[in-house]
Amino acid sequence: MQKDMRFCLELFKSADRLLTVKREVNPKFELPAVMKAAEKLGKAILFEKAKGSRYRVINNLFGSREMLALLFETKPERVVNVWIDRVRHPIEPTVISTGPVKAVIKKGSDVDLTELPIVTHCSKDVGPYITAGIVVAKDPETGKRNVSVNRMQYKGKAKLGIRMMPPQHLGLIHEKSEKKGKDLEIAVAIGNHPFETLVAATTVAYGTDEFSLSSALRQEPLKLVRCETVDLEVPATAEIVLEGVVRAGVREEEGPYGDFMQYYIPVMKNHVFEVKALTHRKDAIYQTIQASSLEDTHLLALSREANVYEAVSKVADVRAVCLVPTILSCMISIKKRFEGEPKNVAAAAFGIYSWLKYCVVVDHDVNVFDANDIWWALATRSRPETGLLLMENALGFPRDPFNIHQSKLGIDATAPLNKWEEFERKVVPGADTVRIEEYL
Ligand SMILES: Cc1cc2nc3c(=O)[nH]c(=O)nc-3n(C[C@H](O)[C@H](O)[C@H](O)COP(=O)(O)O)c2cc1C
Repeated sequence: MQKDMRFCLELFKSADRLLTVKREVNPKFELPAVMKAAEKLGKAILFEKAKGSRYRVINNLFGSREMLALLFETKPERVVNVWIDRVRHPIEPTVISTGPVKAVIKKGSDVDLTELPIVTHCSKDVGPYITAGIVVAKDPETGKRNVSVNRMQYKGKAKLGIRMMPPQHLGLIHEKSEKKGKDLEIAVAIGNHPFETLVAATTVAYGTDEFSLSSALRQEPLKLVRCETVDLEVPATAEIVLEGVVRAGVREEEGPYGDFMQYYIPVMKNHVFEVKALTHRKDAIYQTIQASSLEDTHLLALSREANVYEAVSKVADVRAVCLVPTILSCMISIKKRFEGEPKNVAAAAFGIYSWLKYCVVVDHDVNVFDANDIWWALATRSRPETGLLLMENALGFPRDPFNIHQSKLGIDATAPLNKWEEFERKVVPGADTVRIEEYL
């Protein structure tokens, strides 16, 4: 059997990164509140009983860089390098005749989304939202596959609201088929191996099959199975699959919903997904992700960190890049070669990733994954009168009614060149390896 989400749960369990909740928990507000506690511990959390549903619930598979490191079998600071090395060599996925996700098949009037423990996350959310589904669709002209993550509002037994607007690729695909007057077939796989979800959250060239990238991360072809009612393929070991169509020419109100910046997106006219079939594994596990959580930002950050890392590597000796916790700000460590270089580094980062608003460049002895270390470098090494790169009226995060995100600031928080005697950090020998239990 190919590595799937259950393999990942075993992996986290053996590394003491999995919490299990045995008592019944309400998917409305209670479950996401408990998820917040798991987030603080940097562990995945499995809920064995969700009120009103037979399905178990999993959350926080991407909650920390250490968890990503377990999946990529490397050190936390090397995850981005492994990503870059592997996605350079895409591998075609393969289609097999059947798989565990076909254990139960329900079609037509047997489809009832109320059986899923769809979570209501935040106090002002309009209702329950599916947040961890990867959406598979095909370009109606080229037949090329696209995979993305899109929020879906529960609207009825077989009806979901879905947010999918251009320039996001799924939005482009729908626009094309709508112009032809056609409904768009989609399939939504919930509960996947993290590699499939990671590639779905990336922005790659239009026409790239994200499953060929998750196959590259796996270093073997991802096994897919054909859907029951639509001409699409989904991972054979997904926990749950929803199949159906996004109607042409139909928009309905969607939201409010607490999104990735921690603000509520307003009510919008968005697309409608009619579900025609539901297939799932035996004892299926439903996955949920809280927008703006560390899980959400790690998920969105990794591929964008890889893009920044590769671009900045062309102009500097980069050591690490971190886009967590907001994906709108970036910390980059370099081995500085000349004064002023940090500004070139920030400019390169802003150039490759337009959503970036702040970029702090630090020396190689600073841990970009530790906000305290970044603030230490800012306080002890930056010179605001000369070390700032301000870019006004640049392209930024697009949904910006108050014009807050269209300027950028790069900050040089590196020590003066060739002054390491004065700027060498003090070391307490053994502090990194000491085990306190041995002294108690
Ligand atoms: C949990 C989660 C929810 C997301 N929800 C949406 C959404 O509702 N609409 C959207 O356009 N992008 C959403 N995204 C971001 C897209 O998945 C991401 O931009 C992806 O690159 C889009 O891929 P595509 O351009 O191939 O379609 C979400 C990402 C995550 C991790």
